[in-house]
Amino acid sequence: MINVAIDGPAGAGKSTLAKAVAQRLGFIYVDTGALYRAIALFVLQRGADVYDRVAVAAMLPMIDIELKYVDGEQRVYLCGENVSKIIRTPEVSAGASAVSAIAKVREFLFDLQIEMAQKNNVVMDGRDIGTVVLPNADVKIFLTASAEARAKRRYDELVQKGHDVEFEAVLKSVNERDEQDMNRAIAPLEQAKDAILIDTTELDLEESEDLLYNTIKSRIGR
Ligand code: DC
Repeated sequence: MINVAIDGPAGAGKSTLAKAVAQRLGFIYVDTGALYRAIALFVLQRGADVYDRVAVAAMLPMIDIELKYVDGEQRVYLCGENVSKIIRTPEVSAGASAVSAIAKVREFLFDLQIEMAQKNNVVMDGRDIGTVVLPNADVKIFLTASAEARAKRRYDELVQKGHDVEFEAVLKSVNERDEQDMNRAIAPLEQAKDAILIDTTELDLEESEDLLYNTIKSRIGR
């Protein structure tokens, strides 16, 4: 199986680009952030504290997560329920960042990710795919953009959806999430030594997609 690992900070366009490129390659796109989001949702729905390591770890045996694919779209099922949409709220984003710093949570999700990569040609995106989950991936990409560029994209997206937000507030939350994801003790966001750096600060979506696709293609030779 061919495994492509894409890591990078929140808002770099990872999921949009990884999904588009997976489709062009005929691979399955695995969005691992959705797994952490599903766990956060489970914890939040039970009124527990996403920072409470003991409480969160105690809930893991009750959690069943399944990934399914419909027309190339990943669907996340939490205990049998399709939660693909409701894991996208800002509250769940913050919760996912919190639970992802818990070692037991990462261990819990490890096998599921490995299994996907062993059974399928995948483009898998996350924070620790090239460093921890798939250290032997055929291609590793570290996809990034400046915090301002990432915040601007998120801001435009929110405004377009009709949300009343301030750019400064969006930038602050981007910086906070970076801080939390890069400075945690376990599996922090970092570029794997053998990863190819792609910076999309100055590129639009189409240019980014072409660069990513061509970079991967030249490495896997197909
Ligand atoms: O990519 P995302 O925004 O959906 O990820 C949600 C959170 O999960 C993010 O704050 C970091 C964490 N995460 C992680 O620690 N490891 C991954 N492989 C994917 C996501």
